[in-house]
Amino acid sequence: MKVVALFGSPRANGNTATLAKTFNKTAEDLGADVQTFFLNKLDAKGCQACDACKTKTDHCVIKDDMAKVLESVKNADVLVAATPIYFADISAQFKIFVDRCYSYLEPFETIPKTSRLKTGKKFVLITAQNRGEDMFAEVCTKYRMIFEFFGFQETHLIRGCDLRETDALKTKNRQDLIDLSKEAAKKVVKPVG
Ligand SMILES: Cc1cc2nc3c(=O)[nH]c(=O)nc-3n(C[C@H](O)[C@H](O)[C@H](O)COP(=O)(O)O)c2cc1C
Repeated sequence: MKVVALFGSPRANGNTATLAKTFNKTAEDLGADVQTFFLNKLDAKGCQACDACKTKTDHCVIKDDMAKVLESVKNADVLVAATPIYFADISAQFKIFVDRCYSYLEPFETIPKTSRLKTGKKFVLITAQNRGEDMFAEVCTKYRMIFEFFGFQETHLIRGCDLRETDALKTKNRQDLIDLSKEAAKKVVKPVG
């Protein structure tokens, strides 16, 4: 099983990164092949709305670092996306990826709009925020819907709330979130052997 993990925070050892690393470690222990991308380090443009992925090719034609990410996610069984909540939404680094996923869709003349992705792909969304859990749940709902539209069939949400301090999660007493990340990995990765 191939897992691709996108780290959407500029903080390489922050809350979302800690949860994503926990997920990845459990997945690897279960035999998964895990590939990670730190989106903040990529040289990547947003979607240029050129529509070449609809009129000329079946993929995004922008030749930058995101092209490799799009190809890897296309070939993966599981996508893990870890993003802090920035002003009631995902990080800009992750949003660039989301918009480039437009290339995963068939031309809009195809009704209903269909995905170019193989069936059975799973999506794990990890978020972290300062505010309590009553705030920004709709962000997860929105991106669950968007990734289902892209062709992902099973979504697992891990929401880190009340993370007010800047220390990495692992230095704090949030075993509940660490456990949730391990459990999610066990659910999506089939043990080998
Ligand atoms: C630019 C910016 C905007 C933020 N906006 C919000 C927000 O709207 N709501 C919130 O609860 N936290 C907000 N935060 C706090 C982060 O979401 C929070 O610290 C999170 O745990 C950071 O995750 P990370 O350690 O993975 O980077 C913001 C932080 C930054 C830097």
